[in-house]
Amino acid sequence: MEFFEVLKQRRSVRAYERKPIEEEKLQQILEAINSAPSAGNLQAYEVVLVRDRERIRQLARASHDQTFIEDAPVVLVFVANPLRNSSTYGRRGEHLYCMQDATIACTVAHLAATALGLSSCWIGAFDDEAVAKIVGAEPPLQPAAILPIAYPAEHPAPRSRRPLEDLIHEERLRRVR
Ligand SMILES: Cc1cc2nc3c(=O)[nH]c(=O)nc-3n(C[C@H](O)[C@H](O)[C@H](O)COP(=O)(O)O)c2cc1C
Repeated sequence: MEFFEVLKQRRSVRAYERKPIEEEKLQQILEAINSAPSAGNLQAYEVVLVRDRERIRQLARASHDQTFIEDAPVVLVFVANPLRNSSTYGRRGEHLYCMQDATIACTVAHLAATALGLSSCWIGAFDDEAVAKIVGAEPPLQPAAILPIAYPAEHPAPRSRRPLEDLIHEERLRRVR
């Protein structure tokens, strides 16, 4: 799919077919993740690939019972890893870049899934400690985002966005609400 078509087609999809994802497609998503930019190319994040049904159920529960997650055959958990960048970037690496690295990677996965005819939904509402425990992330590692990936069982209409003149500010910020 052409890039701007991917942006146009992408949605947060919250109803999934209980159908497996082809290994080649999953591999393409994982390679896409690995191509994402990161501060100093340090890739200060880890990706946990979850396929175990019980672990996926636990992740859904830890995401404040967002039960649609349970139907996804694959769930990716993006974990910020400051161990990889703090010696280079200090506090900025620990507090900002590793979280940015992890969320850029999740964005790439979300778009790659769309390009392959799959669907996904960014999950940010979860109990940090519960998710960390489920995927074995010990401090200072911190879960940043969860991405269930599946074939879609719904085709939501696009959601509205702010008008560009409200969002984009020429030269400096004005009218911020
Ligand atoms: C940081 C972040 C956190 C989000 N958390 C959730 C979530 O926990 N559950 C959910 O269903 N959607 C979540 N979403 C998806 C948004 O609700 C969705 O992107 C937004 O409503 C726009 O819809 P669209 O993605 O279909 O354009 C999250 C998105 C982002 C970027």
